Order: sequence, then structure tokens, then C-alpha cells
Amino acid sequence: MRVLVTGGAGFIGSHTCDRLVELGHEVTVLDVLAAPVHRDGKPNHLTPGVEFYESDVRNRDLMRNLLRRADAVYHFAAYQDYLPDFAKFTDVNVTSTAMIYEIAVAEKLDLARIVVASSQAAMGEGLYRCAEHGEQTPDMRPESALRAGRWDIGCAVCGEPLEMLPTPERIANPQNAYGMSKHGEEVVAVNLGRRYGIPTVALRYSIVQGPRQSVYNAYSGACRIFNLHYLLGGAPTLYEDGQNVRDYVNIHDVVDANVLVLADDRAAGRVFNVGGGTGYTTQEFAEIVRRQYGSDRPGRISGEYRFGDTRHITSDIDALKQLGWSPKRTPADSVAEYAEWLRDMPGLDEILAEADAKMRSLGVVRKAVT
Ligand SMILES: NC(=O)c1ccc[n+]([C@@H]2O[C@H](COP(=O)([O-])OP(=O)(O)OC[C@H]3O[C@@H](n4cnc5c(N)ncnc54)[C@H](O)[C@@H]3O)[C@@H](O)[C@H]2O)c1
Repeated sequence: MRVLVTGGAGFIGSHTCDRLVELGHEVTVLDVLAAPVHRDGKPNHLTPGVEFYESDVRNRDLMRNLLRRADAVYHFAAYQDYLPDFAKFTDVNVTSTAMIYEIAVAEKLDLARIVVASSQAAMGEGLYRCAEHGEQTPDMRPESALRAGRWDIGCAVCGEPLEMLPTPERIANPQNAYGMSKHGEEVVAVNLGRRYGIPTVALRYSIVQGPRQSVYNAYSGACRIFNLHYLLGGAPTLYEDGQNVRDYVNIHDVVDANVLVLADDRAAGRVFNVGGGTGYTTQEFAEIVRRQYGSDRPGRISGEYRFGDTRHITSDIDALKQLGWSPKRTPADSVAEYAEWLRDMPGLDEILAEADAKMRSLGVVRKAVT
């Protein structure tokens, strides 16, 4: 097939392009090489043999031309940050998606598949259960609770501790501008796809890990930060009490999912979680990274927290498993591969200081008063 990959110079996009080329597809990449992810022009990891267009995904004329000669589309390009520029999230992530469908319908294009990248962030705080009052989907924790160091979420009725459940695709309760835009993107894609007969799949990735994940962006999370700390001989700070639970999915498992839904017609018209299948506390994950570097310094629990952080979230991956996919790599595999990739990268100490300064200047990192 002739496959158009937006954001194909990025982390998930470039790994997906590698596999598509390996499978014999003809690949075109549309990527604006956005800062801060890209600093030095085209990255070395851009897949050899792809046709590359450096432009914004909202460039309608270019998008029309590229769609006219595509059989399938992966839409990975997205705005992702902690900045409070809410309109930009919607503009880049939702408008660009609507535009792809607008062009496809106007031009009567015969697209075999559109796959859009959604996120676990679309599910917000996820699904919980109270033994007495049943299922609940809490909203973000109030600032007053976090300031007081009350990390766990209680039942909305009785206040008793809630049991965290793996969150299935039927839950959508995004709590930040990024998650809202990703939910918007998947609704636009799947519903317009269904309405106009364009086979569409939305994939809600959990935290994806592996090499090529930009060391420059603030949102790439624990894998990058913990690796940088241990690589530079330090130890990371663990927010809250280090017991927040997450699931981590390896980039190669993500690519497996991406190519599966391109070919499998059972996937069309649906939203799937793509997660690691196992929950880890932040402390457990920090220990995996510590062991990778042979450090004897555990993560430090400082009583700080990040405004808007989810307490716990893990994705229920049963739906995609029904199509024959399952995660095959562990977080330790991802960390080993990421560490190898970081090893000879120049200027890492500055990057760590910059990232920390950015989070603090934005007021994202705060301290509990207990
Ligand atoms: N990495 C994760 O853990 C994760 C988790 C959930 C969802 N996702 C989603 O997966 C997709 C890919 O994420 P990633 O981790 O590879 O990010 P990334 O930043 O490495 O890649 C995104 C690419 O999109 C490009 N881009 C950004 N804005 C653009 C625009 N306006 N026009 C054209 N290109 C633009 C960037 O230059 C970059 O190369 C995104 O849609 C993201 O929301 C990622």
C-alpha cells in the first residue's frame, strides 16, 4: 500500500515507518519537525527510503495532494505539552483529524484505513470500584487534597478507599487539555469514518517506551527522567508517595498493534487500548531503571506532587488481545534499549536541568504541606 504517516519523524511514527517499509509498503512522511522534540533538523532515525515532506499537518493543500495518492493513513502528528494553551491542543490534534476526513469525503477518496493515535489520557483517572457503591470514574483530585498529602481517591458516596480497575475503552473522562483533544480526535475519526464508510481505528496508547523518544520534551515522562538521573550518577525524585500505578508499553509492541489494525478488518470502526497489561508503581519502575545502571541509590520521595497527575491508571487490553495481539516485551526490556540509545548522546546534564526548570516554572511541581 501507499501509506501516509503524519508525525513520521517522531518516536512512534519512525518505528512504525521502519516496519511498514520492511513489510514492503511505500511510505510518505509529513512532519513539521516541531520543537522541542526536534532540534537539529531531520533526525538520524528517519526511515531510509521514505518520501519526506516538512510541513504542518494543518497545511490543507499539501494534505490534499498527499491523501490523493495514499491508500492508508497513520495520523501520529500531535501537539503534546504541559503548557496551558488549550486552543492549540484542539487546533492541532482535532482540527487536523477533521480536515483529513473533510478532504477524503470531498475528494471521494478510497482509503483502506485511517489509524489515529489516541491516548490513555482520554480515560482520565480511569475506572474504580467501591465494594458497596459500585463502579466510579473519579475526576482529577482536588488541589486541597494534594496539598494535604492525601493521594488516594475515596468513594464519592462513603469516602472508603476505592479499588483501582484496569480501564476499558468504554470509559472516556479526560481531565487535561491534551486528553480532551485526544478524545476529540478519536470521536471525530471513528464517527466520521463510520458515517462516510472510511475504515478507521483509534489506538489509545498507554505510556510508550523505547529508543528515539525525544529527550527534549517535558511529557516523555518517567523513562526519560529516571534514565537521565541514573546515567548521570544521581537518583530521581518520586512524586507523591511513589505508589502511583501505571502501565508501560514497549514501542515494538506498539508497532505490532499499529500494523495489525492496518490489515485486520475486525478492527475497523473501533477504539482499542494498547497497553502493557501490568501495573507498576512509580517506585517499582524506578527500581527497574536503578538495576539497569547498577546504582545503589533508590528514588527519593520528596512530598512533591505534580499538579493534575493521575493517581493510578492502567489500561484494559482485552479487546486488542481478542484480535491476537499481546504485549511481548517488559519495561526492563524498554529501559535496557533506551539506556543503550542514550549512552553516547551529548549534552544530557543540561537537558535534565532544563526539564526540571521548565516543570517548576510552569508551576506543575508543587509541595504538599503535611
Ligand atoms: N509516546 C507516548 O507515550 C504516547 C502515549 C499516548 C499517545 N501518544 C500519541 O502518539 C502519537 C505519537 O507520539 P510520539 O510519542 O511519537 O511523539 P513525538 O513527539 O515523538 O512525535 C510526534 C511527531 O509529530 C510531529 N508534529 C507535531 N506537531 C505537528 C504538526 N502540527 N504538523 C506536523 N507534524 C507535527 C513532531 O515533529 C514529531 O515528529 C501522538 O499523537 C501522541 O499523542 C503517544
